Amino acid sequence: MQQINLADGLVWFDNTLLSEADIGSVFEPEYWSKLNKVIGSAKGRGTTWFVQGEQVPMALRHYRRGGLFGKLVKDQYLFIGWERTRCYEEFMLLKHLRQCGVNVPRPLGAKANKVGTLFYRADILIELVSGARDLVALLKNSKVEHNVWYAIGEEIAKMHRAGVCHTDLNAHNILLDGDNQVWLIDFDKCEKREGKNWQQGNLDRLLRSFQKEKNKAGITFNEESHWRWLTEGYSTIQLTQ
Ligand SMILES: Nc1ncnc2c1ncn2[C@@H]1O[C@H](COP(=O)(O)OP(=O)(O)O)[C@@H](O)[C@H]1O
Ligand SMILES: [Mg+2]
Repeated sequence: MQQINLADGLVWFDNTLLSEADIGSVFEPEYWSKLNKVIGSAKGRGTTWFVQGEQVPMALRHYRRGGLFGKLVKDQYLFIGWERTRCYEEFMLLKHLRQCGVNVPRPLGAKANKVGTLFYRADILIELVSGARDLVALLKNSKVEHNVWYAIGEEIAKMHRAGVCHTDLNAHNILLDGDNQVWLIDFDKCEKREGKNWQQGNLDRLLRSFQKEKNKAGITFNEESHWRWLTEGYSTIQLTQ
């Protein structure tokens, strides 16, 4: 990982995968649209832009607040040190997860920009999982087989074995690629934790998300089969090594 100082901020990046000379600009969607290299987008809290980098396709996300406070201060966070910025923490967490063998996309770059002395804004570039769809989109139109539900459970257990708590584990943050490989995404605000009393909370939240999307998006989801398969997969992985 390489680090570069900008006039008002810092960039951390993987120079084997992110080789653009103008490293300060690659976190701006306009840079990519001028080059005609925006290849897609997805709506979550804000827009995640899919762009074609020199080496790999990437997902570009600007950090935004949710909730009521977010309407007032859309994208600024209190600065308490470069290594405590949201983008740096997510970048390092993704690195850790990959080292532990969890299927998460590779982090490519993170940028934090000071706004005055108290606040900062942040962006992140992550490898794009090509051809991936999230579970909500998939379960609306097609069937997910037993072995895939099982694999989703296994991947969540691997994340827990790596000691990582996903504070927003929901059906939109689990992707399947064209080969039905499972990918976990969206690790903003997630963190490493000790002990045994938070893992079940992640699973409970995911179950609630599936139940919610049954009404909201009309997905096919059955607790007696689908969820049971997922938890079977989960329990095959030893959480402590
Ligand atoms: N690395 C990625 N590869 C493919 N699609 C992605 C990737 N990252 C995000 N997406 C898509 O963009 C959506 C929003 O991104 P996400 O990281 O979940 O941010 P948020 O939910 O905070 O807006 C995801 O649900 C997914 O559809
Ligand atoms: Mg998300």
